[in-house]
Amino acid sequence: MDIGKAFEKEIKDVDNTIEEILPKEPKEAYGMLYEYIMRGGKRIRPAILLTVLQSIEEDAKKREDIYKRTLLPCSLLECFHAFTLIHDDIEDGSVLRRGKPTLHVTHGMPVALNSGDSLYTFIWRKLLDINFEHEKKLAMLKAMGDTFREVVEGQAYDLWWEKHELFDQNEQDYFMMVSKKTGALIGISAAIPSIILDKPSLFSPLYAFGKSIGIAFQIQDDILNLVGEEEKYKKTIGDDITEGKRTLMVIHAISALGNPDAERLKQILRMHTTDNSLVAEAINLMKKSDSINYSQKVASKLVEKEKNEIASLLPQNEFSRKMIELSNFIVNREM
Ligand code: IPE
Ligand code: IPE
Ligand code: MG
Ligand code: MG
Repeated sequence: MDIGKAFEKEIKDVDNTIEEILPKEPKEAYGMLYEYIMRGGKRIRPAILLTVLQSIEEDAKKREDIYKRTLLPCSLLECFHAFTLIHDDIEDGSVLRRGKPTLHVTHGMPVALNSGDSLYTFIWRKLLDINFEHEKKLAMLKAMGDTFREVVEGQAYDLWWEKHELFDQNEQDYFMMVSKKTGALIGISAAIPSIILDKPSLFSPLYAFGKSIGIAFQIQDDILNLVGEEEKYKKTIGDDITEGKRTLMVIHAISALGNPDAERLKQILRMHTTDNSLVAEAINLMKKSDSINYSQKVASKLVEKEKNEIASLLPQNEFSRKMIELSNFIVNREM
């Protein structure tokens, strides 16, 4: 699936909304954000939200009106995603994002940090302008607040494990961490339509669906970080090794390799090295333990299960079929 083409309308509408709402002044606070957000990005969270919404609301006229009013909360979720990327790149020491230097590289650490804060505080203020009935708005704010907390809690585990050189995580620990740092925001994107369309019984299953494909999304992302192409991936290949990140491949390899290979992998991850030959050595150890194939299978299985789930949750129409294609994209993507 060419996601840019398949969701051309949705992406354009969200981008226009962001352009309209994002403050331009003072440029010291907001100036760099517009360029950053408009660098692109796959817009997968808006694509999920608007596709689920359009699938559930089958009355064409009502759908058009609700779609328009949903663009604001949907765009604010994308802005929250952009905020997490700015701070994540500072936390991870990453220098490339969406094919261009990260904000702390171009503007320095203090300005990048504060521009993330500017975006984050703007989001909360703007959420109050959502044009839905008070009860629905409140429900959305609560759900988003819970989600935003989960995301930073997930980031906390990720950072803590690296910082304290902990290597004793099992797969359950890993799934808990990524379901928070990545799954939660994709989960809420899938579940927001249930609030908007008054389908409370769909909230939890849609949230669980989004969380699950979000975990698969993160696994695929970490695979691409090892064996992807930088031109398409638009981030630095191998920088998860430099970062010392605990990915599913790392956890699998440490338990599958045995010593001395497992110790060697841990040693390289502790070095936070940018040395190409050491990064390649770590990647080769993960290939030797078949960890990349293993993780690919885990991600594909998650998506297969969730495709059945979504087919039973959503009415059968062009939008639910698109949601299933989008689920496939999550594990087949190279970008
Ligand atoms: C990057 O998310 C962070 C992860 C959860 C892996 P995306 O891959 O959705 O980033 P953009 O928006 O397309 O740049
Ligand atoms: C993904 O962060 C989750 C968030 C940004 C909240 P990662 O650190 O795993 O992802 P990339 O590789 O930098 O995009
Ligand atoms: Mg990162
Ligand atoms: Mg990170």
